[in-house]
Amino acid sequence: MRSAMAIRRILPAGEPILRERTKRVSTFDASLHRLLDDMLETMRAAPGVGLAANQIGIPLQVAIIEIDERITELVNPQIIKVSGEQVDWEGCLSIPGYVAEVVRHDKVAVKARDRHGREFRVKGTDLFSRALQHEIDHLNGNLYIDHLETVDELVRVGDASERVAEEAAAGI
Ligand code: CO
Repeated sequence: MRSAMAIRRILPAGEPILRERTKRVSTFDASLHRLLDDMLETMRAAPGVGLAANQIGIPLQVAIIEIDERITELVNPQIIKVSGEQVDWEGCLSIPGYVAEVVRHDKVAVKARDRHGREFRVKGTDLFSRALQHEIDHLNGNLYIDHLETVDELVRVGDASERVAEEAAAGI
């Protein structure tokens, strides 16, 4: 019998675990599946479009993205190819209430394993590419604010335009 999913607490920036490199997953068992299920529910409740395991206190290379009703579960993900450049607004569930314009690669290709340990590759453009880079940053102990030259580039959501507020609602 499958146990019910649970919403976990999302840790805010300042928690040391968000600054540590996460560990590779070597066992693709029920506890990993439970973690991924809880991450999906936690991300949806936030609401957000991406979540990394260390954001809920689990220092493993596990992340999840949901964009346009497509769920991507990433275990031990690695960026294998990048091209181009894009600049857009970005927020993070661990930095609520703020957004900033962040320069990212336009396109990325990622190699990862699924919840059963099977290797797969996925390509991303636009927001999906941004989310892939954002979540893999998390798993390496990095936050989007690290890409800013100064914290003055952070915009409070309440002060921002409607468009910015919309982007922030989709925190990653
Ligand atoms: Co984030």
